[in-house]
Amino acid sequence: MVKKTVHCPNCGKIVTCSGEPGDVVKIICSSCFSEGKVTFEKTILSLNAAIEVSDLKKVYGDLVAVNNISFTVQKGEVFAFLGPNGAGKTTTVEMIESIRQPTTGDIKIFGKDIKTSFDGMKEKIGILPQEFHSFEKLTVKETLVYFSKLYKKRADIDSIINAMDLKDEEKKYYKDLSGGLKQRVGVAISLVNDPDIVFLDEPTTGLDPKARREVWAVIANLRDRGKTVFLTTHYMEEAEYLADHIAIIHKGKIIAEGSLDELINKYGDESILRIKNCSSKNAVDVLKENGFEAKTEGNSDIAVRIEFKERVLEVLSILKHECIDYDNIDIRRSNLEEIFLKITGAKLSEADE
Ligand SMILES: Nc1ncnc2c1ncn2[C@@H]1O[C@H](COP(=O)(O)OP(=O)(O)OP(=O)(O)O)[C@@H](O)[C@H]1O
Ligand SMILES: [Mg+2]
Repeated sequence: MVKKTVHCPNCGKIVTCSGEPGDVVKIICSSCFSEGKVTFEKTILSLNAAIEVSDLKKVYGDLVAVNNISFTVQKGEVFAFLGPNGAGKTTTVEMIESIRQPTTGDIKIFGKDIKTSFDGMKEKIGILPQEFHSFEKLTVKETLVYFSKLYKKRADIDSIINAMDLKDEEKKYYKDLSGGLKQRVGVAISLVNDPDIVFLDEPTTGLDPKARREVWAVIANLRDRGKTVFLTTHYMEEAEYLADHIAIIHKGKIIAEGSLDELINKYGDESILRIKNCSSKNAVDVLKENGFEAKTEGNSDIAVRIEFKERVLEVLSILKHECIDYDNIDIRRSNLEEIFLKITGAKLSEADE
């Protein structure tokens, strides 16, 4: 499955969609709801592909850890490989990095099969492994210089330090850094060879919310600098916040794939508008008479199903017209946690193998 971004010819909004090479896919603009078609040409798509994985499988004894998965990561996108503990994320990413051998299947990086041309590829990728550690008694700068010497192509270390916001820490020992800073050093190490693709395996696991946000800013910065980012995570908020393209893996299989909007459109429910502390007992009836699906929640809140955003204003103007008072409103659309629950019957946060 590959992703394509087009401009809606009617309103100009960017619309993303997925399809296989040769497919003609029907799309609906999320802003003006115009319908259109997008053709996925074979040649252009493979030119844009950074990573192509086909029928990849890994068996450990009796366990099929990765079960015939296929996906494509486009150049310049943040691709989130999202799944619970034990889903097969690290096994997959380490097969792409040539650290583990696939049982069967093919992997191409920039169109070249890694079985025959990984040596050339090594210079083009950067890796932050899961549970990364570095040398305790090297400073941040010494650490980066050390790792850069492993490559022929070397990025400017001071630029990496600045881009990763590590200037104040460059003379500190790795052992004296906080968890968030250590992860930032890990991301910085993955950049010492100025790679085109950066693999980050669970870069924010174990970090507090502030440190996690700081690492997210670093990852967003990588995308802004044109890098392709392969982000492995079990945090759905991380995928929602950062990813252009998400593949959800569960028990070794990809169970859903696409942009966040595509996943929500395909698997999510419509948005729910909640009218808080509504004064009128008739409000639900009034909304139903006007064609809305509405129900009471708790004592005095009302939930209204909203298919598209213009209908929010319609609901509010009906309430105003009928002089129905309320305290507040909130609008919530489906998220990845709900989508995961819908597809697998388990919560992502509780679905560890
Ligand atoms: N070297 C190995 N030998 C045997 N089984 C393994 C090996 N590596 C991983 N596994 C098993 O394969 C499955 C997938 O593991 P993997 O580490 O790829 O999952 P993951 O999605 O990265 O999980 P986590 O979120 O915990 O990092 C798990 O059941 C794991 O126990
Ligand atoms: Mg893992």
